[in-house]
Amino acid sequence: MVKFPDTPTFAGYNEPMRFEADLVDLEVEGEVPADMNGAFFHVRPDPHYPPKFGDDIYFGGDGAVSAFYFDHGRVHFKHRYVRTDKYVAEEKAGEALFGAYRNPLGDDESVKGKYRGTANTNVLVHGGKLWALKEDSPPVLMDPWTLETEGYTDLDGKLTAQTFTAHPKIDPKTGQMIAFSYAAKGLCTASIAYIEIAPDGTLEREVYLEPPYYSMIHDFAVTEDYVVFPVLPVIGSWQRLEAGLPHFGYDPNKEMYLGVMPRGGDAKDVRWFSAPACFNAHVLNAFNEGQNVHIDLPVGQSNGMPFFPDVTGAPFNPETAAPMMIRWTVDMGSNSDGFEQSAPIAPIPGELPRIDDRYAMHPYRHGWYHTADPTKPVDLPSTPADIGLFFVNTLVHQDFMTGAPQTYWGGPDIVFQEMQFVPKSKDAPEGEGWLLALANHGNSRRTDLLIFDPLRLAEGPQTTISLPFMLRSGVHGNWAPAENMPTT
Ligand SMILES: [Fe+2]
Repeated sequence: MVKFPDTPTFAGYNEPMRFEADLVDLEVEGEVPADMNGAFFHVRPDPHYPPKFGDDIYFGGDGAVSAFYFDHGRVHFKHRYVRTDKYVAEEKAGEALFGAYRNPLGDDESVKGKYRGTANTNVLVHGGKLWALKEDSPPVLMDPWTLETEGYTDLDGKLTAQTFTAHPKIDPKTGQMIAFSYAAKGLCTASIAYIEIAPDGTLEREVYLEPPYYSMIHDFAVTEDYVVFPVLPVIGSWQRLEAGLPHFGYDPNKEMYLGVMPRGGDAKDVRWFSAPACFNAHVLNAFNEGQNVHIDLPVGQSNGMPFFPDVTGAPFNPETAAPMMIRWTVDMGSNSDGFEQSAPIAPIPGELPRIDDRYAMHPYRHGWYHTADPTKPVDLPSTPADIGLFFVNTLVHQDFMTGAPQTYWGGPDIVFQEMQFVPKSKDAPEGEGWLLALANHGNSRRTDLLIFDPLRLAEGPQTTISLPFMLRSGVHGNWAPAENMPTT
């Protein structure tokens, strides 16, 4: 019998949706630009079955992919679960077979050895396939038009790393996918693989290196000449799993490290730079000026993920955890093993940072990110604390040249999901285009896809595309321009 627990992860605003859908011609208020052609893909954890052990964290949910197909002013929609090993086996059994988040010790005997991934973290089109990603497993490939799952891939037998990041970068000049794996040699192993994949999806390089310790490496930084692996003290171990603790915990007494490697280099070329503990999840952008490598990212001074508790027992502190955008600068020409950390480069804290991706790895001016404005009223079926990391009521545009932010508050019943910048054309100036944001109406349980002028965010959306249901709060997504979609 399917009955979800009455816990914050599974009740109220976070109630699972568990549907698949096809809709032709979504309802639109305003105009969908006729020259905005392509597809917006977004993925969310949406548990198909109640967790095996009564409760679990939000990130344990099965990946459900949403696709909005923009076709000369019309928008069509498709929503499918990713048929991971986990999804397929559990649907057959009619119940959860896999245990707690990233702990295989509680798995049913029938699924031992199967991939535990949920493909619930990011989706992007590369080489004509939709890649559905979760950092504890290899990539899952899907058909971008039908959302049918093709399955896990080892890239024609060439990919040896056992996992694959949910945050690969596409080099805007070469079209290469630059990626990495952590726990590359197996669960809880201190091993990283650096991975380069050609525009057609062929694996070109896989280089192994060893970080100072095993940690969650959720995102990384890539510049034209360097790649940077942030090793932050979100630690894990088999001992934790055997003790029934969450996979990860935050250890404020450990140093953090940045591993910097030339893009063409290998393990012998990596240099490690250190600083006191801090927390980061995502990278806004990075670029290098000669041997000076700049990494812009939201950084908190204490643990940012309360479901991965502080190992010292310190309670979650939302004030010190608030992530501020800062710049880390590593001088690869110096003999120092430290690096510079700037004062905040934007006045508003926030996360889920995005840029005009044509400027990835290069100097840039504009960024967009989310924030939770505590001064605004809230009218939702759960408290912001119970919604947790996904409680986002305000969108931010930051102009890093003028220093000025713009914000847009959605309303007391609105929870936003990650934004997506879409350029007006291949050679339009930076920031000229459209900004997509999914807005959940938490009480009526419906989702709108809003289109903003990216540089006039405060003016509000120019177009509202409506779904007759809600998409559970999700993680990441990406726009695929029409020319990147496979021909049908
Ligand atoms: Fe992420």
